[in-house]
Amino acid sequence: MCGIVGYIGKKNAVDIIMSGLHRLEYRGYDSAGVAVIRNGSLDCVKSVGKLVKMDEKLKQNPLDSPLGIGHTRWATHGVPSEVNSHPHFDNDMEIAVVHNGIIENYQELREELKKGGANFRSQTDTETIAHLVRKYYQGDLFAAVKRALQDVEGAYAIGVVCKKNPDVMVAARHGSPLIVGLGDGEAFIASDVPAIMKYTRKVLYIDNGQVCEIRRDGYKIEDLKGNPVTLEVKTVDWDDSAAEKEGYPHFMLKEINQQPDVIKNTLRGRVTEGSDTVQLPDMQVTEQELKDLKKIVIVSCGTAWHAGLVGKYLLEKFAQVPVEVDIASEYRYRDPIVYPNTMVIPVTQSGETADTLEAIRVAKKKGAKVVSIVNVVGSSIARESHGVIYTQAGPEIGVASTKAYTSQITAFALFTIWLGETRGVLSKAQGREMIAHLRAIPDKIQWVLDHQEEVIRCSKDPKYLNAQSALYLGRSYNFPSALEGALKLKEISYIHAEGYGAGEMKHGPIALVTDELPVVCVATKGDTYDKMVSNIQEIRARSGIVLSVATEGDEAIKNHSADVLYIPECYEPFSPIVVAVPLQLFAYYVATNRGCDVDQPRNLAKSVTVE
Ligand code: AGP
Repeated sequence: MCGIVGYIGKKNAVDIIMSGLHRLEYRGYDSAGVAVIRNGSLDCVKSVGKLVKMDEKLKQNPLDSPLGIGHTRWATHGVPSEVNSHPHFDNDMEIAVVHNGIIENYQELREELKKGGANFRSQTDTETIAHLVRKYYQGDLFAAVKRALQDVEGAYAIGVVCKKNPDVMVAARHGSPLIVGLGDGEAFIASDVPAIMKYTRKVLYIDNGQVCEIRRDGYKIEDLKGNPVTLEVKTVDWDDSAAEKEGYPHFMLKEINQQPDVIKNTLRGRVTEGSDTVQLPDMQVTEQELKDLKKIVIVSCGTAWHAGLVGKYLLEKFAQVPVEVDIASEYRYRDPIVYPNTMVIPVTQSGETADTLEAIRVAKKKGAKVVSIVNVVGSSIARESHGVIYTQAGPEIGVASTKAYTSQITAFALFTIWLGETRGVLSKAQGREMIAHLRAIPDKIQWVLDHQEEVIRCSKDPKYLNAQSALYLGRSYNFPSALEGALKLKEISYIHAEGYGAGEMKHGPIALVTDELPVVCVATKGDTYDKMVSNIQEIRARSGIVLSVATEGDEAIKNHSADVLYIPECYEPFSPIVVAVPLQLFAYYVATNRGCDVDQPRNLAKSVTVE
């Protein structure tokens, strides 16, 4: 959740740090700080609230220096305050540390360090690292950090500088993301690629248990015991503009509109033009392993969990493998039974979600084969999986996940076709037909994007805009669509919304129906259409307000609905990809009409890297 940026080079570090922290704002934060080494001293500026306040403070108190570290804090231990904001220091203000993660044994470390004379200024777990580095410091900062981290338990990505080592910046990670950017006579550290993309495209993805000493003219990486480590320098191929809004008012709207291209990118390299089969080379799974597969367990959080639910319907129907979908934060603690020939599929945009990462560690320990559906290349979950299916959706900056969701479902569709054919339960002809349906999806999404007038009109209608609560209903492949539509509305407009299987109405939720309750019903053409219409009639009979999502050309649905949002005719198993779009737009426009911060909703962070 926190953002880290550091710089060592020839330019003014603060300019680069602040520019990078602004790029990381989407990660969510409540305070910020910068520390620099200059003229043999360590100087620092901190502030609570948005980064613009830091910008103001730095105008009053410029910290010109070629070496510095900065941080945006999303509080985990200690209330949001200047004293708790990073960087944190040793007693003598010689060593500064920024940190993302949670130090799990910080209380005992704190007590020991206090006995050794450490004077703690803050309530944070991070400050223990600064005092620990001081404890072991004998002139070599790299050595002191390696030794200090041997005492630390928990998750961290850290940047460390020391006023007595003005030519060195040290970085380390265990469990929280951290990259090193390499420039000409300069180097960077950051929590995420967008922070430094405009300065360099050459990055090192530091791995767990690795510490990096960074100088202007080079770097070295070791593990905590001092064993040398070699990492491949990766080239980031995201355009700089990819992390910009490209003229849209919000990242979220930009990313909703990117979806036709995103689905094409997810298909790219998997269903090459003219070919009628699916290739998934990164999965690192043999044909025999696929044929022997007895069970699939999907583990994920939030929107990614909803994508997993769609994956279940697809895999069981067309690949005929039993599928269990579990919330990662439950899976990791319930001591799951993992039989031989079980594949665990974590679904994750960031690849850094703590619960999902721990869930696959549990699964691997129990012998599961882990293949992740993930967006961020080189992310922790990607690196800890046996195989990956990258969604290739590009950076998703908006906290509310949109293009990641539709690309995740597309990835499941690809995997389903490949698995079904490999297991001989899906014919080549069926596979070809399904690939053709997949190829048609981008145009169907584009149709929805080209027909937004109705959803924009509805988003201004007081019966939706001023609702206190909303229900979302769906069936079959679009039961997850209802859950996802509800999550979108609640997390950015703050209107309480619940998603339900429409068949569940009689088992309780129908008691909520009044003439003030909007009920969004996914009633697109499909096997359960008639059942959905019956549910809609039950709601209308109790004066409920029905907003239907339906298939273009379905005029009858208007008789049962207050309003209708249409999607083009669509292959039902893949319809959740298209159904998602009007529901994303509805949530977006309602939220913006309510004056909400759709890119950085209150209390939310883009990547939940702590429990
Ligand atoms: C979705 O709109 C939310 N931002 C959130 O539920 C998110 O999907 C969840 O935290 C999982 O994140 P991940 O895909 O990066 O693992």
